Order: sequence, then C-alpha cells, then structure tokens
Amino acid sequence: MNRPDKCVPGSLGEQTLSVHGGNHASGTGTDGDGAAIRVPIIMANSYNLPPDPSTMDWSNPEHLTYTRNTGINQIALQDKLCALEHGEDAVVLASGVAGLHAVFFGHVNAGDHVVVSDTTYEATYKLWTSLLPRKYGIEATFVDITDHDAVIAAIRPETKLITTEVIANPTTKVADIAALAEIADARGIILMVDSTFTPPPLYRPLDDGAGLVVHSLTKYINGHGDAMGGAVIGRADLVEPIRSEAMVDVGGVISPFNAWLIMRGSVTLPLRLRQHQESALELARFLEADERIAYVAYPGLESHPQHELAKRQFGAGDRGIGGFGGIMSFALKGDPDLQNRFVNDLKVVTSAVSVGHDESLIVHVGTSGPRVAAYPEGFREYGHLRFSVGLEDVADLKADLAAALDSAAG
Ligand SMILES: Cc1ncc(COP(=O)(O)O)c(C=O)c1O
Repeated sequence: MNRPDKCVPGSLGEQTLSVHGGNHASGTGTDGDGAAIRVPIIMANSYNLPPDPSTMDWSNPEHLTYTRNTGINQIALQDKLCALEHGEDAVVLASGVAGLHAVFFGHVNAGDHVVVSDTTYEATYKLWTSLLPRKYGIEATFVDITDHDAVIAAIRPETKLITTEVIANPTTKVADIAALAEIADARGIILMVDSTFTPPPLYRPLDDGAGLVVHSLTKYINGHGDAMGGAVIGRADLVEPIRSEAMVDVGGVISPFNAWLIMRGSVTLPLRLRQHQESALELARFLEADERIAYVAYPGLESHPQHELAKRQFGAGDRGIGGFGGIMSFALKGDPDLQNRFVNDLKVVTSAVSVGHDESLIVHVGTSGPRVAAYPEGFREYGHLRFSVGLEDVADLKADLAAALDSAAG
C-alpha cells in the first residue's frame, strides 16, 4: 500500500493537514484517472489472502487480513491523527475509554504502580480505583497533578506510568505537561496524557515530551456527535504493544464507518476549534460577571488558578492556534433545584452528556460521588454544570443563558 504521508506533518499548515491528512490509499479506488478523491468506506471484515497464506502471522496488525487487525479506514484516520499530533505512530479504537484502557493494559502489568491525577474523567477514575487494582493487582496513587513535589513523592521503583488530562474533566485543572514529562523521563516512566479537551492544533503534548496521547475522538475531533472512537498516538515503540495487544488480541477495534465519519468530521477541526474557544471565552466572561453565578472554572479566565500556565502552554504561534478550549464548569448560587430549573429553561443549549459537539451541551452534576473530595470548594458546595460551548451564534447562546438565568434565578 502506498502511504506517502504517513505521520509526516512536513511543512503543511493545520487546515491543509486536516483536509488532506490520511486521505490516500492506493488499491482502494483512490488512485489514477477518474478515481475517487476520498478514501471510501470499506465495510468488509476480511481482505484477500496472498497465494500462500499458510505461514502468515494471523495477528499481524500491519497486514490487511481482517478488520480487527487493521483496515483501510482505520489506516487513513491513524495517519491523519499522527500527522496532526506530531506522533510517530497512532492506533484508533472503538472509544476514548478503549484508548485509555489500551494504554493501561498494554503498558502496566500485575505488581506495577501508576501515578494518576486526582481529577479525571469518571471512567479513568473507575479503572484505577476499582477495575485494574482488583483484577490485576496494579496499584494507583492519586495526586494533585499540579503539585510536582507530590508527583515525585508518589513515584516508586515499580511505577510505570504517570497519567493525567491536559485540562481535567470537569474541574478544568490544567496540567504542566513539559514539567511532568521531565519528571517522568528522568525516571524512565511513561507520561500518558488524555488531551481530549485540547485537540491539535490547540495543543500537542508530544511536542512537550509526553510519551503517549489519548483522545476520545467522540468529542472535538469528530465534532458532530454522531460517532464514537478513541486514539492513542505517540512514540512508535509505545504504540506498538497497544496495536497488537489491545486491538488485535483484545478487540477494541473501531468500525470502518465510524472511522470514516471521524475522518470527515476532522476536516474542519481547526476552524471549529477557533469558534468553540472564541465563544467559550466570551460566555465564560459573561457568566463570571453575573452576581447570580457562584463560580466559573475556565482556563481562559484570569481567575483560573492555572491561567498563566494555560497561556504559556497553549500560546499561539509555532505551538498552535492558541486558546483555552471550549469547555467550562460553573454553578448558580443555589441548591440543586435551582441548577435544574436553569438547565431545563435553556432553549438552545441541550442537556446531554459528552463535549466537543457542534451543539452546545450542558450537564448538571451534583455534590456527591467518589471524586468530589478532590474538586475545588465551589464544586463541592454547589455541584457543577459542565458546559461544552458549541458552534451556534454566540449571541443566541448568550441570550439563552441570560433568559434561563432570569427565569430560574429571578
Ligand atoms: C477527558 C475524557 N477522556 C475520555 C473520555 C471517554 O471517551 P469515550 O466516551 O469516547 O469513551 C471522555 C468522555 O467524556 C472524556 O471527557
């Protein structure tokens, strides 16, 4: 197969890469005169075998044999993500959680230890508090990832992995990836970063020394709320066991149709991101200025505890387009009934889980739950509304928030 631009960003710009990255696949009808100029959806489970298959390695993840090993649409998406993230290699899987589990499964063994940020997406927390320790005897220490002395103190001789989100779901705590990479590198530990809230070209953790990056492709990278997927991107030697073990042997494979949808959705990623974050900053400032609002957690606000780090880490220029993402958490001054009334009075913003869609999404999360102890005071007192700012006109979003504030809070 001809894969001329595999993982090579070259000198192309962000939007050019988002349009053209991975969009090649000789032998699939996309080469030659009159050929389709987009990789088609190949829904086949199997591919033609060579004349003598008897000595083949049936688990070879590089050979087009069986879609659980690899497939045309997976390869196309992997190549694009690899180029966008400046990775050496990438593997795409069925969901973001499949990506997270794949890293843990592929790189941590019974008796090993991991250091985990104390503020993470629910499934990561559950994997490290319950499933992996119980099933495999792997120990996890949860730390405040912004406290680098605590991170260092948590490291043991058997520590294999440090894992964090760049901007944490839901508190928006920002991790200093270059500093954590230095800590990890000096001790031969892998730094794995979940960058779902900060997709390229907003930020590229590999450029700052992370070993592996995980994305829920379900979110910004697809962007249209109609397909699930996950990706692990990074150093080739670290991606290889994930491809062979988590995908081929455990089977967390993405469907060709979802890979194709995500490939299509990702074409507009830089354009969408610019709009998401421009609107998010405006709405975060608008909410923060309203005295009925208890707090707004958004890295773009001067009041955010890691605002200076966020400015430096996500700064515009060679490093990316600059910005702070499109997700914030906030709460009204009041009880859960008030938060619910506010959400139910919104007409443009939809009450639903997930983030990074074209559509603005809000979810009311209360003050109970195992992770809440690690959240800032406002989250513990009022709960939080996680708000993913969509691509609607910002004037409509602002009017919607203002009307719901008036009707719910008076
Ligand atoms: C930061 C983060 N990582 C991973 C995931 C999991 O992704 P998926 O739902 O695609 O499995 C989510 C989902 O919300 C998330 O917010």
